[in-house]
Amino acid sequence: MPKTWGDQLPLQHDAPRTTSFRKPLAYILVLLGAAWFLSRNYVSEVITRPCRSHAPLSSEPKCPQVDPLIPSKSTKELDDMWDYLNSESFFNKSIERLSGAVKIPTQSYDDMGDVGIDPRWDIFHSLGNYLEESFPGVFKTLDVEKVNTHGLLLTWKGSDVGLKPTVLMAHQDVVPVPDATINQWTHPPFSGYWDGKFIWGRGASDCKNQLMGILEAVEALVHAGFEPKRTLVLSFGFDEEISGHRGAGELSKTLIKKYGHRGAAVIVDEGAANLKSWGANWAVPGVGEKGYVDVEVTVRMPGGHSSIPPAHNGIGVAAELISLIEANPWSPSLSDSNPYLSMLYCGAEHAPSFPSKLKHLLHHRPQHAHKDALALEAAKAGLDIRYLFTTSQAVDLISGGVKTNALPERTTFTINNRINVGSSVADILSHVARLFTPTAQKYNLTLHAFNNATETPNSLILRASDTALEPAPTTPTGPGTPFSILSGTTRALYGEDLLVAPGIMTGNTDTRYYWGLSEHIFRYRMGWDLEQEGLGNIHTVDEKIEGKAHRDAARWVYGFVRNMDEADL
Ligand SMILES: *[C@@H]1O[C@H](CO)[C@@H](O)[C@H](O)[C@H]1NC(C)=O
Ligand SMILES: *[C@@H]1O[C@H](CO)[C@@H](O)[C@H](O)[C@H]1NC(C)=O
Ligand SMILES: *[C@@H]1O[C@H](CO)[C@@H](O)[C@H](O)[C@H]1NC(C)=O
Ligand SMILES: [Zn+2]
Repeated sequence: MPKTWGDQLPLQHDAPRTTSFRKPLAYILVLLGAAWFLSRNYVSEVITRPCRSHAPLSSEPKCPQVDPLIPSKSTKELDDMWDYLNSESFFNKSIERLSGAVKIPTQSYDDMGDVGIDPRWDIFHSLGNYLEESFPGVFKTLDVEKVNTHGLLLTWKGSDVGLKPTVLMAHQDVVPVPDATINQWTHPPFSGYWDGKFIWGRGASDCKNQLMGILEAVEALVHAGFEPKRTLVLSFGFDEEISGHRGAGELSKTLIKKYGHRGAAVIVDEGAANLKSWGANWAVPGVGEKGYVDVEVTVRMPGGHSSIPPAHNGIGVAAELISLIEANPWSPSLSDSNPYLSMLYCGAEHAPSFPSKLKHLLHHRPQHAHKDALALEAAKAGLDIRYLFTTSQAVDLISGGVKTNALPERTTFTINNRINVGSSVADILSHVARLFTPTAQKYNLTLHAFNNATETPNSLILRASDTALEPAPTTPTGPGTPFSILSGTTRALYGEDLLVAPGIMTGNTDTRYYWGLSEHIFRYRMGWDLEQEGLGNIHTVDEKIEGKAHRDAARWVYGFVRNMDEADL
């Protein structure tokens, strides 16, 4: 049995841990502030003002770091298996397996029809067969259920049915590769090409890495004769990239039926990558997700010949409304439950180059909470950071008019909103309605605000998309919660230089369907990719993942499942 897992991590320790500045770019962007930027733009006004108190932020730490957690119960087989997971043979094998999964193009398209009817789902049978061939131990030992044909639910029943299960998630589908971009790829998108450092291809990083990493770890546990006390559930959807209702939507219903409301101890799904900020390395498992709503706006105004136009027509009024939206953005706001507030406390307590202006504002947050000076200051770090605690609004679709010689009778546009923690779908709808009321009056348009009214001439109609989603409940991170198990597992694998702080996702994952199953939901990318910034070009050309990062996901799960098995929760 190794003294610490770190003793066993030569491949990790020779990696250039501090050379890359991680800056996740994609939709599940989770970042800490660019500390150097803030310090460069440092304004002395705040700290030169006399400070009422120089006491520390609080008498008790707001961001205590959990000690590395190594499973205490072991056997020779489990230790030998751990050695194997650290070997070059396993490294090679795990790359070969992921590469094979990437070669199966399980693309999910926005306009997919139902499973069993739209033939584009059939490719998921190939992936299902591939998983079964690749992980014979898992498929022989765990109960296998197919939910809505391609949803994969694997259950390893624990000996103590009184313990709530651990649930690990990933999705089997990938974002389509548009034909027009295929020749921009360095290696073909479904080649699974291994260049000695990276595995290339669509899905390599989102998220067949997670899918295969989980299965590799469980296969290893099966072969090492592990016998779980706590039930382990693997739940793999197949349409996450097109909202997840056929996969995760159905899987979550099955799970809630089996285990009941809050019946799972913990859920870990794809999510935020480890990153570097304020001079420190961070794991920032997502404990929250912003909400979502599209508002569709329709302007109905009289048509007629364009040679005798009125002063304003539907397109002009729509333009006025769009200008109003852009002129009235939401302000940054850090509610008590916003994970980014916790991240700031973690930075203030642990990071060497945390900006002193932010530290000062954190200290005085109770006095300034009403105008949220802290949020305004933190938002200066850039849009990536700002939108972790600010509702975003963007007009993304527009159409109106059919002919150059006819006035537009119907003009529509859509505002996409990502809702800040502490706000709600209802706040967004009333903001838009309030903003547009004077314009409706000015042009004598009847305002139908979110009342499902049928369209009438001379009206302004507002509708909310049925994909609306409230911000996710914030996962608890206090002592003795599953957050501690996740933190301890992560620090055991990567070392105590890696700090763990709560993170927040600006995008949504399949976990949106699982809120009822557990309050302990984490969106975390377990493999630490030290060779590239951010999330490895997910959703764009040249998606890839570092081989070592993929291997490490399996090692993380191998530890986490055992730690959860021993945890007294
Ligand atoms: C792993 O693969 C490399 C080639 O990528 C090969 O040189 C090496 O011998 C392999 N190691 C083992 C143990 O199979
Ligand atoms: C406003 O519209 C109503 C019907 O929608 C009409 O009766 C009224 O005359 C209009 N007023 C003006 C000032 O155009
Ligand atoms: C909206 O109106 C239609 C009929 O016009 C009705 O079928 C539907 O149930 C209504 N939806 C809601 C949410 O009220
Ligand atoms: Zn994904």
